[in-house]
Amino acid sequence: MSKILVTGGAGYIGSHTCLALLEANYEVVVVDDLSNSSYEAITRVEKLSKKKLSFHKESILNKEALDQIFQKEKNVDAVIHFAAKKAVGESCEKPLLYYQNNISGTLQLLESMKASNVTDIVFSSSATVYGEPDEVPVKEDADVRPTNPYGQTKAMMEQILKDTGAAYGWGIALLRYFNPVGAHISGDIGEDPEYPNNLLPFVSQVAAGIRKKVTIFGEDYPTPDGTGVRDYIHVIDLAHAHVKALIKLKQDKSTHTYNIGTGRGYSVKEMVETFRKISQKEIPAVCGSRREGDVPILLADATLANKELGWQAEFGLEEMISTAWKWQSQNPKGYKA
Ligand code: NAD
Ligand code: WQD
Repeated sequence: MSKILVTGGAGYIGSHTCLALLEANYEVVVVDDLSNSSYEAITRVEKLSKKKLSFHKESILNKEALDQIFQKEKNVDAVIHFAAKKAVGESCEKPLLYYQNNISGTLQLLESMKASNVTDIVFSSSATVYGEPDEVPVKEDADVRPTNPYGQTKAMMEQILKDTGAAYGWGIALLRYFNPVGAHISGDIGEDPEYPNNLLPFVSQVAAGIRKKVTIFGEDYPTPDGTGVRDYIHVIDLAHAHVKALIKLKQDKSTHTYNIGTGRGYSVKEMVETFRKISQKEIPAVCGSRREGDVPILLADATLANKELGWQAEFGLEEMISTAWKWQSQNPKGYKA
């Protein structure tokens, strides 16, 4: 049985991926400092899978502790690296925090992997590395030119991983996620933000009556209805992409970069309207000004992941929104009791 160490495994995407790993019969070791998550997510993953995982409440910035975890756990076969700070706006206000946590954390992790002879890593990258691409759908060989410190950390971590892979012959999978949304079909695990920075969790909270209205960031974009278009990807599909990437790295020890999206775009207005239909809630929405740094349209060309990983997105918009709503309505306070 393969043992996978998952950094940030208590988080939104990490928890769904831990569940997918346990369901695929991997052993799972989580390292998470719970700085943006709750242990309750781990409890629920264990309940859903009817399996136990090994949990370490620790920061990846603590190299000594990381070394000890690798030693204690023995025979870790691969790492999936989610642990990072991820809010674009906050990264502009506190760039040093982002460079410290994301870059230094990744360096510590790679050192510990090297010391323990663990040579496969799947990394959470982001479509944010493309900035505003010249063409959409965007392919993996498009220019990398992020427009904010968070995106810069992702681009830098990609480069660090590529150099490490090339020097030591490691297997590296850089998964560039587009816009992850939705929740597990049980509604028991999902995204639990303090304050939602992204569209769908914000709309969920408006539907639930926690917030009064959604502000649409610009209605004058060169898109069919004037609002921003994005490639939303169900978090369960995203979790499965990680399992496929682990299998790929077993067979091919080189660096692979994959877009993980559907290739199908939806506008802000379409998202809000579909949410209204599914939740049967009013969801007041007003038009506001554009948010700095937003691009009109961002879509993935995920052909490479389809071909090389044998991965395909299974869930459509209805499932993305109905599971997000199920999670929100079943857990009005998120993981808090
Ligand atoms: P999240 O905040 O829910 O999960 C990140 C987890 O990492 C949290 O549990 C947090 O406590 C943990 N963490 C942060 N710093 C840590 C540290 N120093 N040591 C140990 N644990 C630490 O975020 P998410 O949405 O699940 O994102 C997971 C990854 O995917 C991140 O790397 C993020 O940048 C990337 N990503 C997310 C999105 C998105 O829209 N959610 C899109 C593209 C890429
Ligand atoms: C989607 C659309 C907004 C909120 C971000 C990060 C990216 C990646 C995914 C981590 C846009 C509009 C939003 C609101 C709105 N994360 N919107 N009102 O900006 O595409 O991507 O999350 O890697 O790095 O930048 O996602 O959900 O914030 O926005 O109108 O209250 O919704 O303008 O068109 P985004 P988002």
